[in-house]
Amino acid sequence: MTATDLALDISVRRVAQSRLPEIDFNHLPFGRIMTDHIFVADYNGKEWTDLRIEPFAKMSISPANLTLHYGQTIFEGLKAYKTGNHEILVFRPDQNAKRMNKSAVRMYMPEIPEEIFLAGLKELLEIDRNWIPTTQGSSLYIRPLMFATDEYVGLQPSQTYRFIIMCSPVGAYYNKPVKVKVETHFTRAVEGGIGYAKTAGNYAASMLPTQLAIEEGYDQLIWTDGKEHKYVEEAGSMNLMFVINGKLITASTGDSILDGITRKSVIQVAKDMGIEVEERKLAISELIEAIQKGTLQEAFGAGTAATIAQIIQIGYEGIRYELPPVETRKISNAIYKELEDLKYGRIPDQRGWMMKI
Ligand code: COI
Repeated sequence: MTATDLALDISVRRVAQSRLPEIDFNHLPFGRIMTDHIFVADYNGKEWTDLRIEPFAKMSISPANLTLHYGQTIFEGLKAYKTGNHEILVFRPDQNAKRMNKSAVRMYMPEIPEEIFLAGLKELLEIDRNWIPTTQGSSLYIRPLMFATDEYVGLQPSQTYRFIIMCSPVGAYYNKPVKVKVETHFTRAVEGGIGYAKTAGNYAASMLPTQLAIEEGYDQLIWTDGKEHKYVEEAGSMNLMFVINGKLITASTGDSILDGITRKSVIQVAKDMGIEVEERKLAISELIEAIQKGTLQEAFGAGTAATIAQIIQIGYEGIRYELPPVETRKISNAIYKELEDLKYGRIPDQRGWMMKI
């Protein structure tokens, strides 16, 4: 895929002075540093208008803004990379545009035309291209966001919306392998709910339970189904994958699980490597039994921010189960390497996943 044919009328207002010289690219935190510019479009109740690039700055919002009260907002996460020849590659942005529109439909928000999403992204990346890190393990995290802009405290869908794309040069989301706890009390999402939508409410609901787990020494939760708390769902910040007896197993997506782009890419790469993949219900009891029998060989999270996050401990019913050492994990390490090589342009893009800017 190339971005050359994505031309729309986008006005540009540049910063007077770039903040780039202030940034230490050798010590990038996740998500705290924003680039100089953002892409913005406004929905006036009928169409998306006023497409523009403007300096990243604080926005003024009415206390009656509908998003602040009722959470009518959706977002995405994707990454851009700089190759050895200083080319810019973006990982599967078309998939983010499509998923954002699925979230929009569920949250009763207007869809953002894919060409606006992609053209805005392309223009923004061209202008902020010097912000894309070249340091090992770093990338430019891209956060598209749409939110209601009506000023009204009654409960009804907004008529007007704003779409923004902002970018942040980032290092690793998880600096080391993670410990996760199986959550059997709180519920993240249910059938018929909004779990598959990338909307603020799902993340807000996860904060208390995750914080309680952090206080016990874990990094994240394994959410289980809201009905019986018997089956693995996702981790909130990433999808979950396990290798049992050489097979890659992950929960099938549905109403309550985010249809992760890293998840589906991992599945495709695994299949292309000849690894058997099962997308199905995975009971916690099966997982624990596999750990006890020694047939659970690998466990990891897959997400844009997290990339492939190795899981080294799973907590369940007061017991902490230690998992096999990360160096022994042939499948996830091979998939991680293939995806990293692809993203940084070190191997040919045979699947047409990378958009060149
Ligand atoms: C992403 O991976 O892009 C996400 O949106 C997850 C978030 C917790 C950073």
